[in-house]
Amino acid sequence: MNSRHNTVVVINFGAQYAQLIARRVREAHIFSTIMPYFVPVEEIVELKPSAIILSGGPASVFETTAPQLNKDILDLGIPILGICYGFQAIAQSVGGSVEHNDIAEYGRTKIEVTDPTSSLFLNQPISQEVWMSHRDTVAKLPESFTVTAKSPVAAIVAFENKERSIYATQWHPEVVHTPYGQRTLETFLYDIAKCEPTWMPDEIIEQQVASITKEVSDSHVLCGLSGGVDSTVAAAIVHKAVGDQLTCVFVDNGLLRENEKEQVISAFAETEHIDLHVEDAREEFLEALKNITDPETKRKVIGNAFIRAFERASKKVAQQKHIKGFDYLVQGTLYPDVVESGDQTGTSVIKSHHNVGGLPDDMEFKLIEPLRDLFKDEVRNIGALLGIDDKILWRHPFPGPGLAVRIIGEVTEDRLKILATADRIVTEELNDAGVDRSLWQCPVVLLADVRSVGIQGDARTYGHPVVIRPVTSQDAMTADWAKLDYELLSKISSRITNEIHEITRVVLDITSKPPASIEWE
Ligand code: XMP
Repeated sequence: MNSRHNTVVVINFGAQYAQLIARRVREAHIFSTIMPYFVPVEEIVELKPSAIILSGGPASVFETTAPQLNKDILDLGIPILGICYGFQAIAQSVGGSVEHNDIAEYGRTKIEVTDPTSSLFLNQPISQEVWMSHRDTVAKLPESFTVTAKSPVAAIVAFENKERSIYATQWHPEVVHTPYGQRTLETFLYDIAKCEPTWMPDEIIEQQVASITKEVSDSHVLCGLSGGVDSTVAAAIVHKAVGDQLTCVFVDNGLLRENEKEQVISAFAETEHIDLHVEDAREEFLEALKNITDPETKRKVIGNAFIRAFERASKKVAQQKHIKGFDYLVQGTLYPDVVESGDQTGTSVIKSHHNVGGLPDDMEFKLIEPLRDLFKDEVRNIGALLGIDDKILWRHPFPGPGLAVRIIGEVTEDRLKILATADRIVTEELNDAGVDRSLWQCPVVLLADVRSVGIQGDARTYGHPVVIRPVTSQDAMTADWAKLDYELLSKISSRITNEIHEITRVVLDITSKPPASIEWE
């Protein structure tokens, strides 16, 4: 995003930590952008930030490979908040001393604010719980710095220098386990750095619409829809900007959840009157998947089939519209993808996007990525403002290769139908119990190559098991298995075995990630 007043730069000493801080700043309605710790100071200055936050990180300042804080940042005259690793990096840079401590502090800790005049802890309790994660400790600071808090094992866990507008905490204000954390961040942002809360969903939409309208002019734009929240919201923004110059393509690969295609048609074509082309490729996907059981081969075959179908669809649509082709492609890239791919420079190449499946080299497009600056929760807020149905906005992530990677064994039409039904039952029950939003995902997996004995009525049966895999997660990098209520599990189990004759057993997956991945294949 271009330079703007009211930007907070988060200096990245460890991606996960920096992203969480950036999100919390956005929750305070202030635009934040993450920059790597080695960024030249001129690039920071160019953004004219109102504040800078130095993130935590996994390293110790003593490691030779530890990311270094560029001292010049401290002399910019821009208010600075250092967190955890950032706290220690500042202390070291200003001539303080950091020492290894025999006792580490991990998790909930009670700290005491030792200087009630501290600007950062204004109107906060003297004694409060915070979330700590450190072994190194700041032992000494130059006189110009005031110590503002202590913990049971460390005499210095917060400090400030009002003249230089430098503030720091050893603990993590950005995590939910620090009850006054968001208040601390907001005090820093509003009272100390004088930021204004201007980052609002309607403003984001307006800015994007204006810039896409200008960029696209009278060219034609193509968007591959996956049925998920990102591509849906991206398409809706672009449609607001360029109307009928946008064509959406939805490839029906036959590997979808029940009613998914109908929901997409209803949300796009019927409600929003967006030009939507549905490419029916069910048979060719099934044909390509015949006799294939290896997960990676499945993915490859599906990726190739997608490219063929998408290319064919785009040619058909171009012909119908009497145009030579499409100049732009919409992608639902989110900010975490940008940060994690290390591509924070603003330029982008087509990467093999999970849900679009990768495109052939000879299909050349310029990219439009309206969500490139946004986190998932912001995308949902914007989607709601654009009138997108909650059912789509709160849909769990779904893998590009769809149900194919949830059938252990060969993918056939019958098996797809069985799995889609089981998946629908689980979705219905999770929705009815009101727990779907607390889960990241709940894949249902059909062990098609396994059979187990059952008794249905008076007869002995020999059907397949399904596995349900409810997980909680922040970002799918790690996940925990969700402790769903027994009554709910019991209802899911009896509905699946009652309503699907071929299923004789329901199994619960109780493995975290790592060691197991979320999907079975
Ligand atoms: P795993 O199974 O690796 O999954 O723990 C992490 C997240 O990624 C999703 N996933 C995929 N998404 N194409 C996708 O678009 C894929 O091939 C794919 N494989 C896994 C998975 O659903 C989970 O959210």
